[in-house]
Amino acid sequence: MSAKNPFKDQQSHFLTKKLLPYALYALVPLIFIRLYLYPIPLVQSQRSQEDLQNNPIIITSSPSLPSPAVQEKKSKPNEIPCDYFKGKWVPDKLGPLYNGTTCSTIKDGQNCITHGRPDMGYLYWRWKPKQCKLPRFNPSTFLQLLKNKHLVFVGDSMARNQLESLLCLVSSVALPNLVYSNGEENKFRRWNIPSHNINVSIYWSPFLVKGSEKSNEFNYNKLLLDSVDDRWAADMDHFDMMVLSVGHWFLHPAVYYDKDVLLGCHYCPDLNYTEIGFYDVFRKAFDTTLKAITDGRGNNAIDVIVTTFSPAHFEGEWDKAGACPKKEPFKEGEKEVQWMDAEMRKIEVEEVEKAKKNSAKLPGLRFEALDVTKLSIMRPDGHPGPYMNPFPFADGVKDRVQNDCVHWCLPGPIDTWNEILLQIVQRWEIQSSRVS
Ligand SMILES: *[C@@H]1O[C@H](CO)[C@@H](O)[C@H](O)[C@H]1NC(C)=O
Ligand SMILES: *[C@@H]1O[C@H](CO)[C@@H](O)[C@H](O)[C@H]1NC(C)=O
Ligand SMILES: *[C@@H]1O[C@H](CO)[C@@H](O)[C@H](O)[C@H]1NC(C)=O
Repeated sequence: MSAKNPFKDQQSHFLTKKLLPYALYALVPLIFIRLYLYPIPLVQSQRSQEDLQNNPIIITSSPSLPSPAVQEKKSKPNEIPCDYFKGKWVPDKLGPLYNGTTCSTIKDGQNCITHGRPDMGYLYWRWKPKQCKLPRFNPSTFLQLLKNKHLVFVGDSMARNQLESLLCLVSSVALPNLVYSNGEENKFRRWNIPSHNINVSIYWSPFLVKGSEKSNEFNYNKLLLDSVDDRWAADMDHFDMMVLSVGHWFLHPAVYYDKDVLLGCHYCPDLNYTEIGFYDVFRKAFDTTLKAITDGRGNNAIDVIVTTFSPAHFEGEWDKAGACPKKEPFKEGEKEVQWMDAEMRKIEVEEVEKAKKNSAKLPGLRFEALDVTKLSIMRPDGHPGPYMNPFPFADGVKDRVQNDCVHWCLPGPIDTWNEILLQIVQRWEIQSSRVS
């Protein structure tokens, strides 16, 4: 980021007490616009995009990784919804189902082991919910449940992070073939798992609703809160299951419209619009999105899962060593979900509950929150930090080093999100087999 802070001169008269928190949230993520969109390619990734388009993903066999079939006794799926918000991280000897060598789909910036992260302790924990058991991810069960379905991730780079975890988790049993890739940074991609006739897609849509990302011409994101983003909505009747994951992009400076009427902005001191923050905007974006899915799916049945807000863990400046230096999870009670993290999660959970109520009498629609906020905030140790780039300290510790304390290492804590995703899908399956 350039040394000049674009807000510095205009700040003092603009910030009232009420607006200060919003402004603070806006400043940290500003630098991340670059990270989200243009991860600086210090080293060319081994496989170019073209290469990926022409060749299916190659995954080397991994005889010493525990086979999911034998790793665990069959545990009974949870029939009652479990509150995954309550729980703690406990040590786990087994470790991850994959690594950067056995799975080739890991995005460069999240491939921590391959980038030289020396400590491995962060891989040996599992989330223990208070009310239920959370079994290890079973790829075979997942593939069975998703058979003949199209699973779609819609959102920002956290959606991508979760998707890439999922592809690695299933790849120990079935190889996903990349069949479509489009857009800068592979923002729109589709894989096919021929053995089970499963398609998995990702659609870039950091606001879910229509809008545009900031550009050289206009330094603000622009959101049209009354209509959904066509880039995914146009394909909706081909979706069977959607995972929506957004949040961090709402913290960035933006202007907001509803039915062509200017509502106001977030952090736009040079525009003289009313500051309205981003909480109501975030809620409205979900309201519009979940309604659009309810109304727009035609005769198609759709399951919708909303992954809740995943907190960042910056402790210092993002471009200094030690921005997220922890090597272990927080202990139970050591860290609570509060302030902005709590508010973002609450909005998502409430909007999902509202959508459930509104669609209760409609066949073929199911909504669920994938409540990862608490288990994620407890994992300050799970981010790439400086290992977003390969071997950041090869020439000694430098004055400046980029840190990613937002996304998650693969393998890493985000694999747990997909363990819970599998539990949700399993519970739905049990319920629908009862009904029919
Ligand atoms: C990845 O897993 C494979 C198979 O278990 C193992 O041989 C390899 O050493 C692992 N690589 C790393 C970097 O841990
Ligand atoms: C997956 O995609 C292929 C190619 O577009 C299509 O022929 C097939 O019907 C799709 N299957 C599912 C389950 O969506
Ligand atoms: C900013 O908006 C206020 C209220 O609408 C208006 O009175 C004022 O003239 C505007 N200032 C500028 C510089 O446009």
